[in-house]
Amino acid sequence: MRLGSAVVLVTGATGGIGRALVDAFSDAGARLVLSGRRADVLDGLAANCGGRAVVADLADPADLERLCGEAEAADVLVANAALPASGRLDSFDPAELDRCIDVNLRAPIRLARAAVPAMLSRGRGHVLLVSSLAGVAAAPESSLYSATKFGLRGFGLALRQDLAGSGVGVSVLLPGFVRDAGMFADSGGSLPPGVGTRSPQEVAAAAVSAVERDRAEVVVAPAPLTAGAYLAGLAPGPAARVARRLGGDRVARSIASGQTGRR
Ligand SMILES: NC(=O)c1ccc[n+]([C@@H]2O[C@H](COP(=O)([O-])OP(=O)(O)OC[C@H]3O[C@@H](n4cnc5c(N)ncnc54)[C@H](OP(=O)(O)O)[C@@H]3O)[C@@H](O)[C@H]2O)c1
Repeated sequence: MRLGSAVVLVTGATGGIGRALVDAFSDAGARLVLSGRRADVLDGLAANCGGRAVVADLADPADLERLCGEAEAADVLVANAALPASGRLDSFDPAELDRCIDVNLRAPIRLARAAVPAMLSRGRGHVLLVSSLAGVAAAPESSLYSATKFGLRGFGLALRQDLAGSGVGVSVLLPGFVRDAGMFADSGGSLPPGVGTRSPQEVAAAAVSAVERDRAEVVVAPAPLTAGAYLAGLAPGPAARVARRLGGDRVARSIASGQTGRR
């Protein structure tokens, strides 16, 4: 899909990866509609790229409905907003659990449901869903997060098949650990030596390329981490035992403890 003058709606535009997505799609010539909760940050970002800001809490049904109206007018939907939702399941109260599922999974599905019919009637469009390698391989302290990221990945890959040949594409983006900004960097969690990271700009460049080339699934992570994740997807039991021996539990706890305030 050509992005020049396309209208691109980006959720989570105020976040670490969201800001890089805004820059990358703007540089590709798109007209941006930026969404997030923090109005002050959103207004500044919109002013910078000549885009439009739409403040919306994706866990609020009325806000989500309003944003669905914006999605109908978008040529490209970039469903990027999410909550970290890390920690053990019994540490979530019911409202926190519902909010995580609403923001990470239900909202992207509702936005795609709103956007796709209008894209089909225009004969072109693209839905980009930001999942995670946590949607390929499960890790400790992330049952809820993984549930939403596996779910989003399955939703996107199936929707892509339903839309094959229609002119409307669907891509699923799978970042690994992202440095410098975003929910992993903000957690202050540390990785074992040798586990590499990618920058928000690399994630954003992959997102633009996924839309332009209509790619089904795009991983943004170093090759060893990618290979480990897909192997763990094939053989989750043995992979979990190996990860535990390599200190995976400790890493997961360090990330989750830096994210408990963000539910
Ligand atoms: N960072 C990583 O290492 C990493 C790795 C793999 C996948 N990912 C995925 O990449 C995407 C972006 O993550 P990030 O690292 O940029 O996270 P982030 O910096 O924490 O940003 C999260 C974004 O989601 C928005 N958001 C959260 N709750 C919301 C709600 N209730 N309603 C509307 N917007 C809400 C935030 O908006 P406000 O700040 O305005 O509230 C913010 O813009 C997510 O889907 C994440 O799962 C990230």
